Amino acid sequence: MPDIAFINGQFLPWHQATISIEDRGFQFGDGVYEVIRTYRGRPFEVDAHLNRLDRSARELSLAQPYARGQWTEWIQRGVCEAGYAEAKVYIQITRGVAPRDHAFPSNAAPTVVMTIRELAPFPIKTREAGVVAKTCEDLRWGRCDIKSVNLLANVLAREEAKRAGVFEAILVKDGLVTEGSVSNVMAVQAGTVVTAPEGPRILSGVTRTVVLDLARAAGIPVREEFISVESLYAADEVFLTGTTVEGLPVVQVDGRTIGAGHPGPVAKVLASRWATLTG
Ligand SMILES: Cc1ncc(COP(=O)(O)O)c(C=O)c1O
Repeated sequence: MPDIAFINGQFLPWHQATISIEDRGFQFGDGVYEVIRTYRGRPFEVDAHLNRLDRSARELSLAQPYARGQWTEWIQRGVCEAGYAEAKVYIQITRGVAPRDHAFPSNAAPTVVMTIRELAPFPIKTREAGVVAKTCEDLRWGRCDIKSVNLLANVLAREEAKRAGVFEAILVKDGLVTEGSVSNVMAVQAGTVVTAPEGPRILSGVTRTVVLDLARAAGIPVREEFISVESLYAADEVFLTGTTVEGLPVVQVDGRTIGAGHPGPVAKVLASRWATLTG
């Protein structure tokens, strides 16, 4: 089964899919992206992802060259041609190719890239045991709500986690938990799911929205507010949400055991509702 590559409206053999050295995505990180996954061959929450792609592009005054219907058709075609049991669709739009100059070029057409690759299932044992995380300083810029390809601070945090032998870096700004390097972070305090509010300090995850809706539907109260690192340590449960991790319990942060040290009841209720939704 082939990995699929697509540039500017054309599906191409993988090795022919190349981008100019003058592309502003390469030169400046001047672009936005999305990651969509499939469940049994069907792209999940595709409209929510494409809405966020449109919003990210708009916030950077970047032209979104293709209509929604065109995108959904290409995504479906790519997923079908790849033929993987589960696939990961990556979409990137940059401000295009132009001689290097920081200000916007006057007449560059955006570069649009899509790849479709196999998504390995997340190891069930890891999910059942929960993962370990560490906190890291949140060094990112002031518009984390834009899903920009500028990911250097996330890259550094993720590397710090990897070197520490833990799964995720939980980012902390001014003593408050923002999100993970590749995920949103939720805590359970006395039965309420608490997570950082939407705004410039976090990426509003598509999974975050779905999980909060599932919680409300299950009668679990939800509060969107920042919590301190101490409150995170003291939470009854902590879990991460994201397209590839789905809902993933965290059982230890910075060497401190969270709750009873294994996935808690709220995470389990949400995991079972998630399985029903996506199964
Ligand atoms: C920084 C950050 N926060 C949150 C998320 C989760 O977003 P989503 O649920 O849309 O995958 C991601 C996913 O890539 C991320 O990179």
